[in-house]
Amino acid sequence: MANRGNWNSKIGFILAAAGSAVGLGNLWRFPYTAGNNGGGAFLICYLLSVIIIALPVLIAEITLGRFTQKNPVGAYQTIRNTWLWKGVGFIGVASGFMILSFYSVVAGWTVGYFTKSVRGHFIGITPTIAKEQFGTFAADSLFQLVLLSIFILLTIYVVSKGVSGGIEKYSKILMPMLLGILLLMLIRSLTLKGASEGVEFYLNPDFSKITAKTIVAAMGQAFFSLSLGMGTMITYGSYLSKKDNIPSAAAWVVGIDTLVAIMAGFIIFPALFSQGMNPADWGPGAMFEALPVLFDKMPLGMLFGPLFFLLLAIAALTSTISILEVPVAYFIDQKGWGRKKAACIIGAIALLFGIPSALSQGAVPALGKLPLVNTDFLDLWNFIWGNLSLSIGALMVAIFVAYVWKSQKAIAEIRGSSTFKLAPLWEVLIKYISPILIFIILLGFFL
Ligand code: TRP
Repeated sequence: MANRGNWNSKIGFILAAAGSAVGLGNLWRFPYTAGNNGGGAFLICYLLSVIIIALPVLIAEITLGRFTQKNPVGAYQTIRNTWLWKGVGFIGVASGFMILSFYSVVAGWTVGYFTKSVRGHFIGITPTIAKEQFGTFAADSLFQLVLLSIFILLTIYVVSKGVSGGIEKYSKILMPMLLGILLLMLIRSLTLKGASEGVEFYLNPDFSKITAKTIVAAMGQAFFSLSLGMGTMITYGSYLSKKDNIPSAAAWVVGIDTLVAIMAGFIIFPALFSQGMNPADWGPGAMFEALPVLFDKMPLGMLFGPLFFLLLAIAALTSTISILEVPVAYFIDQKGWGRKKAACIIGAIALLFGIPSALSQGAVPALGKLPLVNTDFLDLWNFIWGNLSLSIGALMVAIFVAYVWKSQKAIAEIRGSSTFKLAPLWEVLIKYISPILIFIILLGFFL
């Protein structure tokens, strides 16, 4: 296994894992999901899900990866070689294709909005024009397909260069830059006229709004944002050195990821409310409708606009890389493919799967309003693969680590490189609390 590659340092792992976690999930998906699901009530469910359900699963995935040094399918097989667990690993690989397909569409939008902001399209913009601009942009089928292709090609390029040469290098400077610019945007957004209404909606929970759908959306968002439930963190953990402290790395990743999501809420909610937009109507385009107006009202907005969309595109790239890496690692480890071949073939398939999402925001009206589900294709795919499939995947990881591999063996693996004082707490969470809650929440949603 000497040729699988390794992170150069623990900080390299944290940056790469945080790079995987921080992306469109925080800035695009979190605000619009929260807006559709009651704002403050969603925020509380989300934070609880992150700490009680997702963090224990994150530790489990990283530890399983480091112990087996394998991709998800291989990791399950190493410990328990049955069709059931092989199948679970395989669903993770399949979810990777599907998430990559719609995620790259939105990532393509950030590239498109970068070029729009450079060309000065947002100067003097009003909320109505911002909405129209997004509508025209999303309905341009050729441009949508070009942007999707550009983004998948970029992802293929970085993944084919391998773990530390590609992934790690890109995460190091860009993350702090992104945090800096978010802080400036946050200050501007909070000082807009009418901002307080947005803050009120975001922070003041209306518990009567909590339904089974809110809870499943919040839990799914926690998994999505932390890249859990499909084996990304198993795969990244497999490149982690035997010397590194897993619980502290996991805590850093959760801390950074959650900070960015919370900041995103403080940026988008006040901006949207000050423009009089009703959260129940927010769709996948919400962020792209809200921010141009914000930049136009910001000192040096002409500079910050392009910089923001560029950094967001890069944050999305460090995430798509981590998604593509899962199927790629599978085909390298299990099928003996070369890295380049694996990245190209899988990327091309994800591109094909991405076409309906790319055309669902106005280009092909039939994809924009599907019968029965009453939503558009991208939103539907986002829910099926980004929520349900990940939740089931996370449930299976928890069960696998706690009962098949056994939590004590996982603790021994963690203790091989660090003290793990909270081991008894983690054991209770991963054995009982986390899997039972995931199960009940999924059941509550389906019944
Ligand atoms: N977490 C990333 C984001 O928030 C997206 C992502 C990367 C992901 N890898 C994943 C989501 C694996 C689900 C599963 O943007």
